Amino acid sequence: MKSKRKSSHLMTFWIDFLAFDVIKSIETGEIYNNGVLIPSDDKFYLSYGVENTTSPPKPALQYNRTYSVSHGTINEATSFIDGSSIYGLNETNLNLTLRDPVDLCKMRMNYTVDTADGKFGYLPRGKDGQYLIGHLPTRGGHVFTNLFHTIFIREHNRKCDELRQKYGNSLTDNEYFQEARKWVIALLQVVHYREYLPIIMGTTLSTYTAYNSTLTPGLDYFFATATFRYGHSEASDSYQIMNQNGEPESILMLENLQLPDLLEIYSVPTAVLSLSLQRQEELDILYSDFMRAHTVGGNFTDMASIDHLRSRDRGMPMYNDVRVN
Ligand code: HEM
Repeated sequence: MKSKRKSSHLMTFWIDFLAFDVIKSIETGEIYNNGVLIPSDDKFYLSYGVENTTSPPKPALQYNRTYSVSHGTINEATSFIDGSSIYGLNETNLNLTLRDPVDLCKMRMNYTVDTADGKFGYLPRGKDGQYLIGHLPTRGGHVFTNLFHTIFIREHNRKCDELRQKYGNSLTDNEYFQEARKWVIALLQVVHYREYLPIIMGTTLSTYTAYNSTLTPGLDYFFATATFRYGHSEASDSYQIMNQNGEPESILMLENLQLPDLLEIYSVPTAVLSLSLQRQEELDILYSDFMRAHTVGGNFTDMASIDHLRSRDRGMPMYNDVRVN
């Protein structure tokens, strides 16, 4: 069912991108091959994907634990909106991999695509062919999250040029870098708190008065594990790619979002236009078909089941108990 408020898929993939700014849990390597049992009478599910790829059809889907008995669950990202997925989860990775080695004020980008959009740069790739971004590119990375990465890294580099023009040699490359980073982080916060949240919550946020400098800030465990997955119900099975007149030109299926070079092929303006002209799915208990037969690392995953199982994995209380308390 389409969004009743008529909000677009820019919203879906903004929050998909932003989720990795504040949450990055670790897989423990503990894998259950029979993690999600498929009822034998679930003919639709078996025929949707699993049956075609395995013979005989699998009676269960794999499940990996992110809760470790020895150290619980670790969130590798900072719980502030501070560009973790752009600038990385630690300074070593930022300095060695993500910053431009030739101009230390800037972020590394690939300027080799010879198109009008390509001159602003696309995400760089490592030796393994994967994009070099602040978190694991294979985890949650696809054309529409790469879109936001690209926009904000372009903005970082643009801001760097602007500051240099204004202040000349009065700051070091590193000082310019940190100023541009601060600017990008502020933009992320403004877009999220002033533009995204009022639409999704139906009201503007009131002024926050509970700040307490003695508390250790962190992300609520229930929010990180359960609530924040609400976006899984917003995804559609297919996405119309529009031309510059806003007319549909082709269709991109959800299962193909991770095909290589899609952003370079479509360009940033086309991807933004396409997302903004398509309504997202309503935020409800329904998932699109493909979210229930989604491929992660070659294995089928049912996001609806995984989202529930992840709560059990990490010992979440039952929903009604949480609501009461
Ligand atoms: C194309 C659409 C999407 C796909 C295919 C997708 C896929 C996934 C997968 C495979 C996981 C790992 C699940 C697990 O093992 O526990 C995950 C986690 C997650 N997703 Fe999505 N997702 C999508 C969109 C979204 C959106 C729109 C949001 C926005 C709220 C979101 C928020 C999250 C969060 C918060 C996690 C947990 C991350 C962690 O614990 O490290 N996802 N997603």
